[in-house]
Amino acid sequence: MRMVDLIIKKRDGGELTDDEIQEMISRYISGDIPDYQMSSMLMAIYNSGMNDREITTLTLAMRDSGELVDLSPIPGIKIDKHSTGGVGDKTTMIIGPIVAACGIPVAKMSGRGLGFTGGTVDKFESIPGYRTTLPMEDFFRTVREHGISVIGQSGELAPADKALYALRDVTGTIESIPLIASSIMSKKLAAGADKIVLDVTVGSGAFMQDIDRARELAKRMVAIGNGAGRETVAMLTNMNQPLGHAIGNNLEVKEVIEVLHGRGPEDLREVCFALAGMMISLASGAANTTGALTDESLAHKLSYEQGMEIARGKIADGSALVKFRELISAQGGDVSYIDDPSKFSTAPAQCELIAESDGYISMINTMEFGLAAGRLGAGRTTKEDVIDMRAGIIMHKKLGDEVHTGDVVATIYGGSQGCPDRPLDVIEENMRAVTEDLKQAYTVSSAEPDRISEILEIIRGGDI
Ligand code: URA
Repeated sequence: MRMVDLIIKKRDGGELTDDEIQEMISRYISGDIPDYQMSSMLMAIYNSGMNDREITTLTLAMRDSGELVDLSPIPGIKIDKHSTGGVGDKTTMIIGPIVAACGIPVAKMSGRGLGFTGGTVDKFESIPGYRTTLPMEDFFRTVREHGISVIGQSGELAPADKALYALRDVTGTIESIPLIASSIMSKKLAAGADKIVLDVTVGSGAFMQDIDRARELAKRMVAIGNGAGRETVAMLTNMNQPLGHAIGNNLEVKEVIEVLHGRGPEDLREVCFALAGMMISLASGAANTTGALTDESLAHKLSYEQGMEIARGKIADGSALVKFRELISAQGGDVSYIDDPSKFSTAPAQCELIAESDGYISMINTMEFGLAAGRLGAGRTTKEDVIDMRAGIIMHKKLGDEVHTGDVVATIYGGSQGCPDRPLDVIEENMRAVTEDLKQAYTVSSAEPDRISEILEIIRGGDI
């Protein structure tokens, strides 16, 4: 097989055979195919696409490029949840404890921030002491003893995706449905869960900005998951504004604690109950075969709506908060921060984004808000950057909210932008520049916009 022939074939709209795809991935990982040829192939795939068979073969080849986690020693049905990325997305920190409070084991490997999106692992690390790296046997033991563990994704999982993602990032080939679907599903399949719920975000803060492309991506991923014998359901969720009010690591953890106390922003609660409800529905009815589910009500197959009711109940009765505390403590975190969130340190500089006209917030460029939080120090521009856990944004006004000139639209928390020793005057100057730019990242109109639901569509295997 000559790589140049495969590139030409794909460039001209041809289909790659299974053997060609498998050999290409294994030779790339072994260093036999150089980055410049793989970059060219990625662009050819970006332009010409792939059919379902090619996407599935690519996914499985990437999955098999590294370690496969075997979760079978943990009794019960293991359900994974994955978001395609968004701004202010702290759902894993809420859903994990809700689901674990039902007795459904949560063995979760999460990622770090990527571009404009934040990462669950970074958010957990803003809780002093919390360890996101555990040896595999401790990960398993924590799930067995506490019903939940959340750690960072091992570098051994789907290394082909790691290498290809880095290449896509610098070759303008991220936004390709076959490449996103295979990237996400290779990691999900390698992580070993029995069933998968996918949160496919749609809108100005998502990889998929329109619903048709999001639906297409969701269908491809659902087909791959079900084809690989893992029941997979995708939920299309609204990302036309940051989820909740908080963007940035310890700001988001404080919001998580609010939601676990039964308070917090309605959009975030709605998305969490929907995703947790779907996970509970998928896990239900398996109690008799596994004996692992502790909640009696889960012994029979439950609908998605019934799952949502149970999820709401785990917040209302405080059991999700208890489970969250247990998780933090089990992984070395200081639970006094959970009991008293005012202990989290605050950014060294703050200012306000002020409304300059009257009307209703009719558009939020969510990606710009995500990038702004990164510029303040909440994200990384290089792998070496040190995140400032205090940096970020609190949105006081969201889509559809009425504003008057002089109202505070958002509070901006200026952080050290990747370098802990950054002097205060530099932090302040950067914060003011970010705030100035954010004036262009939302629109105020005289007409009140329609409110849209947070859950846009649900796609199951039978729908494809
Ligand atoms: N998240 C991933 O893991 N991969 C992609 O390609 C896009 C989002």
